[in-house]
Amino acid sequence: MANVVVVGSQWGDEGKGKIVDWLSERADVVVRFQGGHNAGHTLVVDGKVYKLSLLPSGIVREGKLSVIGNGVVFDPHAFVAEAEKLRAQGVSVTPDRLKIAENTALILSLHRELDGFREDAASNSGTKIGTTRRGIGPAYEDKVGRRAIRVMDLADLDTLPQKVDRLLTHHNALRRGLGHAEVKHAAIMQELTSVADAILPYMDRVWKILDDKRRAGERILFEGAQGTLLDIDHGTYPFVTSSNTVAGQAAPGSGMGPDAIGYVLGITKAYTTRVGEGPFPTEQNNEIGEFLGTKGREFGVVTGRKRRCGWFDAVLVRQAVAVNGISGIALTKLDVLDGLDEIKVCTGYRLDGQEIDYLPASQGAQARVEPIYETLEGWQGTTAGARSWNDLPAQAVKYVRHIEELIGAPVALLSTSPERDDTILVTDPFQD
Ligand code: IMP
Repeated sequence: MANVVVVGSQWGDEGKGKIVDWLSERADVVVRFQGGHNAGHTLVVDGKVYKLSLLPSGIVREGKLSVIGNGVVFDPHAFVAEAEKLRAQGVSVTPDRLKIAENTALILSLHRELDGFREDAASNSGTKIGTTRRGIGPAYEDKVGRRAIRVMDLADLDTLPQKVDRLLTHHNALRRGLGHAEVKHAAIMQELTSVADAILPYMDRVWKILDDKRRAGERILFEGAQGTLLDIDHGTYPFVTSSNTVAGQAAPGSGMGPDAIGYVLGITKAYTTRVGEGPFPTEQNNEIGEFLGTKGREFGVVTGRKRRCGWFDAVLVRQAVAVNGISGIALTKLDVLDGLDEIKVCTGYRLDGQEIDYLPASQGAQARVEPIYETLEGWQGTTAGARSWNDLPAQAVKYVRHIEELIGAPVALLSTSPERDDTILVTDPFQD
């Protein structure tokens, strides 16, 4: 039985929410394996709108187990707030429905503050990343620096003060350097003890639960956040998030072996968007960009920021297919292109007078590449709400087929509106 990993194949915001929800109906377990509450998923289930940042999408469906894997950085305050909001919408967030890995690193208020201090300082020097200011980067730094406070530490009040000491030695030096007040030991102890009771009932040995589920033949859906071009290694470094967002991370980020990963579904928007700073070769800072942004309602779920918009970049997605091992894509928001006379697709780059067919790794080269476009004829009919290939204008089908050819992966699902039933299924990723 195939498990499925869902990843974004661009810079995030590809429309993962709807697809993950659609797949979670077929899954038994839904697992987050990286990122934190920097993600934003909007789910529409039976006409009700749910906005999730931290919790796996399975939480809104009865009978599904939701799991936060150790690869996530976990903000206990964000968890409490999101759980409360969901409860007010009638969703039960209880320890029998949600498990949090005991070895998950925590995001504390000092991480959020440090993220903000750095971004503020960088705005004056032009080196800003444009983070979500949620403390994601600083929390991952502490994790790999071996000084993080982890969920399990909340249960061990004897050793917690020592761990807080170690954390503060590092953070207070940084804060002094940035000209900010030090944090008091008692304040962090108070922060940790005040959330412990709300978190500890959910703590579990996630690797064991997942191993048991897998052996029992249950279907596991790994829900990626952000996108491939935001991956700490494979993205547009340093304008990236601080985790590996690629499909391979599903294994170490949840405590399973690599053979637990079956089908890799790359969610892919029919054009390109990004939020935050950094290179974006096909960006359209003109009326086309405005058209895509307005029609596609391109505003961030988490920060409300306006997304930058541009043409489909086949170079980037082809690279995403390679680094994730994408089996098939879910193409989203095709309807946003309805009515355009012509549509451009980037098929290669020109770098210092040479043609290349990949995204170079260096920051300088990424900023210098110029897109090489192919111009395709648009279509006048509508693709919105189509539920079969026959419902699509011939030229739209041509566009989709051409994208498949350029990126070297087939379309498994085609999403034609935010409604869950407006989906054309070609291949069921959960098929045996
Ligand atoms: P951070 O993850 O808050 O550190 O932000 C680093 C970069 O990732 C910034 O460019 C953010 O805009 C971007 N980012 C983080 N989460 C998301 C997401 O869920 N969708 C799109 N971009 C994101």
